[in-house]
Amino acid sequence: MAQLWGGRFTKQTDQLVFDFNASITFDKRLFHEDVTGSIVHATMLAKQGILTEEERKSIVEGLTGILEDVDDGTLAIDESQEDIHSFVEATLIDRIGDAGKKLHTGRSRNDQVALDMRLYTRARVAEIDGLLKKLLEAILDTMKNNLDTYMPGFTHLQKAQPITLAHHYGAYFEMFKRDRQRLTDIYKRMNYCPLGAGALAGTTYPLDREYTARLLRFEGPTLNSIDSVADRDYLIEFLSALSTIMMHLSRFSEEIIIWNSNEYQFVELDDAYSTGSSIMPQKKNPDIAELVRGKTGRVYGALMALLTTMKGLPLAYNKDMQEDKEMAFDAMDTAADCITLFTGMIQTMKFRKDRMAKSAMNGFTNATDAADYLVGKGVPFRDAHGIIGRLVLYCIEKDTSIDALSLEELRSISDKFDEDIYEAISLKTCVEKRLIIGAPGEKMMKQVIEKNKEYLKND
Ligand code: ARG
Repeated sequence: MAQLWGGRFTKQTDQLVFDFNASITFDKRLFHEDVTGSIVHATMLAKQGILTEEERKSIVEGLTGILEDVDDGTLAIDESQEDIHSFVEATLIDRIGDAGKKLHTGRSRNDQVALDMRLYTRARVAEIDGLLKKLLEAILDTMKNNLDTYMPGFTHLQKAQPITLAHHYGAYFEMFKRDRQRLTDIYKRMNYCPLGAGALAGTTYPLDREYTARLLRFEGPTLNSIDSVADRDYLIEFLSALSTIMMHLSRFSEEIIIWNSNEYQFVELDDAYSTGSSIMPQKKNPDIAELVRGKTGRVYGALMALLTTMKGLPLAYNKDMQEDKEMAFDAMDTAADCITLFTGMIQTMKFRKDRMAKSAMNGFTNATDAADYLVGKGVPFRDAHGIIGRLVLYCIEKDTSIDALSLEELRSISDKFDEDIYEAISLKTCVEKRLIIGAPGEKMMKQVIEKNKEYLKND
């Protein structure tokens, strides 16, 4: 049990209390950020004449040594310390003596932890953004190669109108593109440095906060010292963005699970991304997709937990805020793993284009186009809708499809039908005539793909 703050206490902390209060088992993850922040703080203290050049040198060398030793395994993070800040400071004092005791001048663990967590989160925002970019590249590849891979589009999970795989994947491209834009916004907003806020009210030492912010590659220092130590919005925003990413991955996973089912058989998952059953020899299960879908709840949980933790806290720092870490770390790890695994899964997944096209051809996916055909022959749309509705009913009774009917049968329902109806409601026409912005026709899709390529090149 080791503490930085024993002075005003007459009794040892109860061991259970110490353990309950301690955070080192999880905030040791902030070790690099803590050392980096401390090096910058000491550098600034010396620039401002608060430390001598000698003291600065000794502190910076000491901290660098600790960093190297932990990284190469010669020094273990001592988990009997209360938190990572205590570990670094105690080890420094142990190694360099009195100069080490000056490191914490003009600083509190409140602004220290705010800085560490922000540095850590900022890096993970960039990492997740990079992973999403790879996912987008994989999606775009599939789009390029499947401009004429026909499949049914669904509403209410009922066949609606024919589309292409490129078009369907294009929907996910937009979602993950927005997810990246959200990360960019969040990054900008969080990119201000809380170091120098002290416990809550700044300090009387002439700290140069612009300088430390610059050294740590922040846009600038935060402008209110109370807010600097009390704010966890940036983390809530990130968890919210991660939740949205997971929601998108989960919907995509759900579709892959459906497409992979025996009834659909639109896709075949690679053996490397599927698992078997211990009892049923025939099974090949989409466990990765199911796990991504399942882990979505866990990321939402982290968001809900932090929102709930923060909602009743008076300004400024409260120990409750230590609870911002474990679940947030878990959510970041989970989302990163899910994006990576999901990307690998879709890159290796094969499409059964024959089955997809066949499926697009039945289920009356051309009924809208049949109605539009009648509109072209002068029938008002509402009447055309009614006529085709009766036609569908007729087909259901005869267990057939609109395009399999003879011209006489069609004419018995409306005399507006001509020989050109068959061409007008063919699968190809239904897709390729949809050429307006955002629609699945090949010409339009090619334009969208060009835009997506540009976007990936520049962002
Ligand atoms: N372990 C603490 C946390 O994660 C560090 C800040 C401690 N500050 C304090 N006043 N007890 O929030």
